[in-house]
Amino acid sequence: MTQQLANRYLPALDATMRQVIANAPLNGAEDFRVMLSYPLGWVDENNQPYPHQTGKRIRPILLLLSTEAAGGDWQSALPAAAAVELLHNFSLIHDDIQDDSDTRHGRPTVWKIWGRPNAINAGDALFASAYAALQGLAETDLDPKTILSIWAIFNRTNLELTRGQHLDMRFERQETVTVEAYISMISGKSAALVSACAQIGALIGSSDEALASHFAAFGRDLGIAFQIRDDILGIWGEPEMTGKSAATDILSRKKSLPVLYGLAQSNELGALYRRPSFSNADVDEVVERLNAVQAQEYAIEQETRYFQEAVQALEDANPQGKASQGLISLAEALFQRNV
Ligand code: IPE
Ligand code: IPE
Ligand code: MG
Ligand code: MG
Repeated sequence: MTQQLANRYLPALDATMRQVIANAPLNGAEDFRVMLSYPLGWVDENNQPYPHQTGKRIRPILLLLSTEAAGGDWQSALPAAAAVELLHNFSLIHDDIQDDSDTRHGRPTVWKIWGRPNAINAGDALFASAYAALQGLAETDLDPKTILSIWAIFNRTNLELTRGQHLDMRFERQETVTVEAYISMISGKSAALVSACAQIGALIGSSDEALASHFAAFGRDLGIAFQIRDDILGIWGEPEMTGKSAATDILSRKKSLPVLYGLAQSNELGALYRRPSFSNADVDEVVERLNAVQAQEYAIEQETRYFQEAVQALEDANPQGKASQGLISLAEALFQRNV
């Protein structure tokens, strides 16, 4: 897919992130640095170089493309690109604790290796490192007003992310959740950051708030489509491809979009979800019930709708140059992906 994009941007992104983590004042706690480097995919749990790719890095790629498509120089956006990827990885470390997930990127999660207290702490350090990366914008030619504006978007995004995570966890215990409430939840936990990437990228490229808000709308629709696909993969995905366990979402009664739809269509599924606890055999039955009401097809329809809205919003943003094609390729690659 985006191999060309990865080749173009990722070496510089990686160097920027490594610099931020290397500069973190962790004197005397090199074992702690391993807990930060591991989730970023740089080392294994014994601090040996890790040769495989882990995260897809779609958020920084989206940000850098948006900078170029708004007429700017992508190099000047590297501090912000590093910031969004560090923030994303903070959120994954905490999310795996919150979701009780023991596998990510085909490896044990941070909490599974070092325990929950250490994982919370490592997540906090990546959160702070994200702000340290963003601080690098002060070394560029960007005007202070634009930097402050970016800072505000970044901060608001963090609050949105935690609001979304709160709803996601609350909905596990809620019998019925409307589609509207679900969209609000994923807008917070996932789409807010994807939207911020496009918006911040465009602001760096142009300092034009009105133009950046068109990019934000594109990112929001793309982020919603992206999370719906994540929901689909959480039930029907191949663990060898996604690197995540296939049953976690169902075991923790996530109100993902296919499940919401299934609950509205099938009383039997409702009865299953009212059971006090789920076993692995129940997971199989849940999937059968979902298949019987074509819940996957429904979710794909909704994903397609948001993807099409994203494409429309991108046209309204009038992206410039070669990066405009890059944005379309990225969006297409995310749509109906299997990783
Ligand atoms: C996973 O995001 C979390 C969601 C918001 C769905 P990604 O699928 O982008 O995660 P990595 O970084 O590629 O592992
Ligand atoms: C994604 O949550 C949102 C954040 C990480 C903040 P999910 O729980 O849906 O993502 P995966 O499936 O674990 O990657
Ligand atoms: Mg999760
Ligand atoms: Mg989650």
